[in-house]
Amino acid sequence: MGIQKDLILLLRKVDRVVALTGAGISQESGLQTFRDTQTGLWSQFKPTELATPEAFMRNPKLVWDWYAMRRNKVLDVEPNPGHFAIVEIAGHIPDFSLITQNVDGLHQRAGSPKVIELHGNIQRVKCSSCGQQAQAWNEAGDEVPKCEICKSLLRPDVVWFGESLPQAMLEAAEKAARACQVYFSIGTSGVVHPAASLALTASARGALIVEINTESTPLTEKADYYLQGMAGEILPALVKSVWG
Ligand code: APR
Ligand code: ZN
Repeated sequence: MGIQKDLILLLRKVDRVVALTGAGISQESGLQTFRDTQTGLWSQFKPTELATPEAFMRNPKLVWDWYAMRRNKVLDVEPNPGHFAIVEIAGHIPDFSLITQNVDGLHQRAGSPKVIELHGNIQRVKCSSCGQQAQAWNEAGDEVPKCEICKSLLRPDVVWFGESLPQAMLEAAEKAARACQVYFSIGTSGVVHPAASLALTASARGALIVEINTESTPLTEKADYYLQGMAGEILPALVKSVWG
């Protein structure tokens, strides 16, 4: 996978860059992507069937336990070279914005200081009715833990299908996408909106689109550069080619 010379030269001189990441950047850390088939106990479920308010209403314990399993799994894995390369890229670009759809917190653990988390964070838990953030809870009791204030069920502080994104995060993401000169779409299938439309917002304002993915996606034909492969290999190679 050679990185095109003109992309290398471009990255040496631009000031404003956005990177949007999806589950693909955490895949090499050992976390499943959303479209992967699940393994083990959860193999009978599709993530897209569990990450919904309806699933939680129907069977709160099942959804709670799935997130508790993922919360613990995240604590067992480490950021990978892809996450670390993004920290390095940010160090070379005056105005770099990192936007993620991931809820695993691996960008923060890799050292990214500011992460626009469009879909929340799995380590945070909130009340399903008053929205109060929970400070502590019993992770593996027989019951789904309850809010201290209003006694409703607690839930993961993540955005489920059909739910709206945190407005402030979405506005920050859209502002960055409108202003950037280069927009990276990394490890995302680009099928979940509004995250997926950020690339088009950037491109409409003249930004160049760079897609990094092991497979092509609906964005690939619109991208100015498509770097096919593993993010954990391509991103470090890009840092080396551009900044030596
Ligand atoms: N390197 C680069 N890309 C990869 C890698 C890798 N090592 N492994 C997988 N991919 C790509 C896949 O080809 C796929 O296009 O990452 C993408 C993962 O896509 P999804 O599983 O759909 O994850 P994502 O795009 O983040 O999903 C978006 O949808 O399910 C909801 O809220 C959830 O945030 C999630 C959102
Ligand atoms: Zn409450």
